[in-house]
Amino acid sequence: MKQTKKPFILGLGGTTNPASSTEQALAIALQSAADAGAETELFGSDRLLALPHYQSDPAGLGDTGKELVELVRRADGLLIASPGYHGTVSGLVKNAIDYIEETARDERVYLDGVPIGLIVTAYGWQAVGSTLAALRSIVHSLRGWPTPLGVGINASGGIFNDGICADAGVNEQLKLAAQQVMQRAETR
Ligand SMILES: Cc1cc2nc3c(=O)[nH]c(=O)nc-3n(C[C@H](O)[C@H](O)[C@H](O)COP(=O)(O)O)c2cc1C
Repeated sequence: MKQTKKPFILGLGGTTNPASSTEQALAIALQSAADAGAETELFGSDRLLALPHYQSDPAGLGDTGKELVELVRRADGLLIASPGYHGTVSGLVKNAIDYIEETARDERVYLDGVPIGLIVTAYGWQAVGSTLAALRSIVHSLRGWPTPLGVGINASGGIFNDGICADAGVNEQLKLAAQQVMQRAETR
């Protein structure tokens, strides 16, 4: 049945780099979701860095961890963006994903049925492919639905500056991934 409330799309990702191209790509996709009518929130580098290593103890989650778990519980869709580090998802992003374990006993277990758009940056295509495949496996194990399009970005040429992407093709793909998340989020 079609929702009357705005779908809530959570963006999760970034790196320790203050001008992170991963986070800039995520912000562009999230803006497309907002333009299409979503309520959005970006859980980016600053909050990823504030998360303690995940441990399965509510007392150990910390304020940022508790905030993340509540955002995930509310989300009708997610956009997740990771750099390719040594051919796979970065520890910073994976640590945040580990917090989703807190939802294992919820009525909606993990990300059951939730559409998830995936974005990967790397400095070579090999890591783009392997990191995207790793992220898809993670999402499947959390019962989420990776969107058909995963956005792979070779960021070695410095195409992101001040929140703007100079590559028209990449912009188009980020927009399309957001649209695919929105299509399914709106019918949940
Ligand atoms: C620890 C580390 C490992 C990396 N491993 C790879 C790699 O295996 N393949 C690759 O193409 N790029 C690799 N890179 C480059 C990152 O993918 C690149 O820094 C990232 O996409 C840039 O994202 P940012 O601008 O958001 O920081 C690595 C970078 C770091 C810091």
